Amino acid sequence: MSKASAPGKIILFGEHAVVYGQPALAVPVTQVQAEVRIDRIFSAGIRVNAPNIQLNEKLDSLAASHPLAATVRNTLDALRVDSLSGVAILIRSSIPVASGLGSGAAVAVATIRALATHLERTLTDEQVSALALETEKLYHGTPSGIDNTVVTYAKPVYFVKGQPIKILRVKYPFTIVIGDTGIPASTKDSVRDVRVQHHKRPERFETLFAAIGSIANTARQLIEGGMPESLGPLMDENHAMLRSMKVSSPELDHLVAAAREGGALGAKMSGGGRGGNMIALSQVSKAGAVARALREAGATNTIITKVE
Ligand code: MEV
Repeated sequence: MSKASAPGKIILFGEHAVVYGQPALAVPVTQVQAEVRIDRIFSAGIRVNAPNIQLNEKLDSLAASHPLAATVRNTLDALRVDSLSGVAILIRSSIPVASGLGSGAAVAVATIRALATHLERTLTDEQVSALALETEKLYHGTPSGIDNTVVTYAKPVYFVKGQPIKILRVKYPFTIVIGDTGIPASTKDSVRDVRVQHHKRPERFETLFAAIGSIANTARQLIEGGMPESLGPLMDENHAMLRSMKVSSPELDHLVAAAREGGALGAKMSGGGRGGNMIALSQVSKAGAVARALREAGATNTIITKVE
């Protein structure tokens, strides 16, 4: 039996603008995980069982473009393995799907690593991330690559599309409260809508993207310089920009406002938007109160996570 797991993630700053070459910051969320286990079985072929999405099928019966099928096939190709038979792949995940927490990337990374372990082969982190990016393309269309990167390395990252990964050096740990609207939303759709708007008003959107990029750069300096408590206003500004790009939603705005009223130092939507999760910066002592305020305002789940 071989096993691998991968964490969820949140984007602290820079979502959407990162697709257009601006920097973004993302951190792993270890409270939620995708786990993949591979067992030998007596029947031929590869059986894929993913109870979260009610899938229990032979790999051959899935469309080639199915993200799980593509992940397995791309990994076998990368390892130059012609065929694999007599195995069952069990995929379990506590990361809610379509919520901005990187569930697709985490399932891909855990599947790739479990397969490599099963085949007694090694893949570098760079190879794992590159393979997971191929899966991300099936989910997202034109992903920046930030999700597969942060999930593969499981460390805070400063990410610029197409550039080698830079690990974010967190001088003093800080606390983030994550609130779920409970509304699944497709990142593919929101990324496409931003593209349409960018096409119609290129100058306005280039200015917005650059402003978001500069927020991400300032945030990096604050995190690496040991002043994380000053990130709050940057979150508020970043959220306002994402709102003006029409990727927020009334529910996200409501939770963002509730977090601020509940004592957070700043808050914003996180990820593709239109639903999914938002994040709030909080003093450690107030994190419980912020999480309570979020649940009272309708959050279906909250997670308190330490960025370190
Ligand atoms: C999704 O987690 C973040 C987006 O910026 C899309 C991407 O970077 O691929 C919305």
